[in-house]
Amino acid sequence: MEQERYQQQYKAFVQQAEQRLNELCDVYLPVKAQISQAARYSLLGGGKRVRAVLVLAACQLAGGDTAAAADYAAALEMLHCYSLIHDDMPCMDNDDYRRGRLSCHKQYGEATALLAADALVTAAFEAVANAPTHPQSRVQAAAHLAKAAGARGMLYGQELDKHYETVHASESELLELHAHKTGALIIAGVDLGCDAAQADDALCTVLQHYAAELGLVFQIVDDILDVTATTEELGKPVGSDAENDKTTFITLYGLEGARSLAKQHNDAALAALADLGPEADFLREMAVELLTRSK
Ligand code: IPE
Ligand code: IPE
Ligand code: MG
Ligand code: MG
Ligand code: MG
Repeated sequence: MEQERYQQQYKAFVQQAEQRLNELCDVYLPVKAQISQAARYSLLGGGKRVRAVLVLAACQLAGGDTAAAADYAAALEMLHCYSLIHDDMPCMDNDDYRRGRLSCHKQYGEATALLAADALVTAAFEAVANAPTHPQSRVQAAAHLAKAAGARGMLYGQELDKHYETVHASESELLELHAHKTGALIIAGVDLGCDAAQADDALCTVLQHYAAELGLVFQIVDDILDVTATTEELGKPVGSDAENDKTTFITLYGLEGARSLAKQHNDAALAALADLGPEADFLREMAVELLTRSK
């Protein structure tokens, strides 16, 4: 798929997800509550919406209706946003900026930010429960979301991330960390897309392999950008990892080593799609774009 067509499609997916996100906020995050205002501040204030796009792209690839998948896409973005609010708090990465403005706890105070993030979790599951999809699809989506976010997924990754601030990590340990803290929610993207389309197991498995590799690439590039990009480009503080003594692929192998590892996992992501036809071209281009992204 040529880049221009890819970018148009990406934009269209983002628009669809953001429109639904706004509608769902009106239902689940009423503005009279300050925690809702704080949740909306973080949720609706930008972001690349990579996970939402994956939901919609996987659903479309599986022949499903993306209008139904938009609720799952919005739910996943809510969950991702909760993880970012907590990630920035003083007890975690202690970062003051996110998505080009003050992080939630800096704008609203720690107590409100903590609760706003919690509210995003419950809103996410409510959105899945009430989605306009088959009941079996909703149960599967809730199970996928919970597994990806919880103590076998993203939260375990965050635990490992804190752990390796004080203890040196090997390559396999870092890959395990990345697979959990970032990979799990990326895999949830394709899982939720497959759930919305009620896709067959064979396709889901292929997309899970693709997304697992994509997730590793995504976090390795995030770590690279923490060293090479500017705060203006990223909308979040650079140098955060070094300041927190994180072990990253850059501290292990240097910038070039990290880049070549990202390329290897990108190749593996593309290889996972080898048996699919041109209908997977959007996902192929997405892998390339995420490898070469600058924000
Ligand atoms: C940031 O995620 C946290 C990581 C897992 C690397 P994104 O880079 O997707 O952040 P937004 O949603 O675009 O702000
Ligand atoms: C965050 O990883 C992953 C989450 C679960 C939120 P990072 O700590 O590297 O994400 P950024 O760089 O703050 O966005
Ligand atoms: Mg972190
Ligand atoms: Mg962080
Ligand atoms: Mg980072």
